[in-house]
Amino acid sequence: MILITGANGQLGSDFKRIFNEKNMEYIGTDYKELDITDISKVEEFLKDKNINLIINCAAYNNVDKAEEEKDLCYRLNAYSPRDLALLAKKIGAEYITYSTDFVFDGKKKSPYVEEDEVNPLSVYSQSKALGEKLVLESYDKAFVIRTSWVFGMGNNNFNKQVINWSKGKDSLTIVDDQVSSPTYSYDLALYTLKLLETKKYGLYHLSNSGVASKYDQGKYVLDSIGWKGTLNRGKSSDFNLPAKRAEYSKLDSSKLENLIGEKLPTWESGIDRFLKEMREKGEI
Ligand SMILES: NC(=O)c1ccc[n+]([C@@H]2O[C@H](COP(=O)([O-])OP(=O)(O)OC[C@H]3O[C@@H](n4cnc5c(N)ncnc54)[C@H](OP(=O)(O)O)[C@@H]3O)[C@@H](O)[C@H]2O)c1
Repeated sequence: MILITGANGQLGSDFKRIFNEKNMEYIGTDYKELDITDISKVEEFLKDKNINLIINCAAYNNVDKAEEEKDLCYRLNAYSPRDLALLAKKIGAEYITYSTDFVFDGKKKSPYVEEDEVNPLSVYSQSKALGEKLVLESYDKAFVIRTSWVFGMGNNNFNKQVINWSKGKDSLTIVDDQVSSPTYSYDLALYTLKLLETKKYGLYHLSNSGVASKYDQGKYVLDSIGWKGTLNRGKSSDFNLPAKRAEYSKLDSSKLENLIGEKLPTWESGIDRFLKEMREKGEI
């Protein structure tokens, strides 16, 4: 049996969708049913459920608020993922958890590979960097997957924000000095499952192919929905956000692609499929 934690978020929702499509059995839990920071309750919950895979989709993702909520952020992104890894080990289950492109400082100007040294710039990214390390040290049947700029139906995200900002406005400004690649949570879930089949545990990068700035991403969304306003280029310094972000954090996913023998879809294709879902659900 598969356990998903944080199952109502973007990634968790797409795991549920894929398992439903494949008629696979799973237990999907979120904060209310299973708070991952209370590991003894998690252990109790798992008793007699014959869990052989734990997919941890729960996380603290508010990058700016994390600067104030350091303890909670570290608990959710570092210590709980480690505790879940130890629990998985105890019950003999495989384990998957996620990290971020923000563990890098952006000084490199070509895509980051798994061997590149991390240098996280904010509380959020420091907590994620610690989480990766603790999980990999704790359990040898764990996948730690770094991804970037996730969007999907299950939660709020940059694409949805851009659509909301555009309503009733004829001019918008989006920064062009943050560069990485947007990643569709459906692809993240699907390709995680392909990676899982290889049983080659360890650290991987998984994001949609291609490179984009926030401006490029916003422009693509706005053009796709037929917005007729003017989109201006801004700089991160204009917005004065609490957490520092890397200027460049594109992940190179070729370790995973070579292993599974498939290329990841482009971020544009991810956005096309996401917008199709939004339309089908009447959200745009
Ligand atoms: N989103 C991104 O842009 C991004 C970028 C890089 C990496 N990642 C990583 O990718 C993974 C999936 O991200 P996502 O975008 O799917 O996240 P998400 O949409 O924020 O989903 C996280 C889920 O975890 C739940 N949760 C929060 N605290 C919990 C707790 N104590 N116990 C159990 N569940 C809890 C959240 O519930 P509430 O909503 O009620 O809090 C939410 O449903 C995460 O590890 C994330 O850090 C995401």
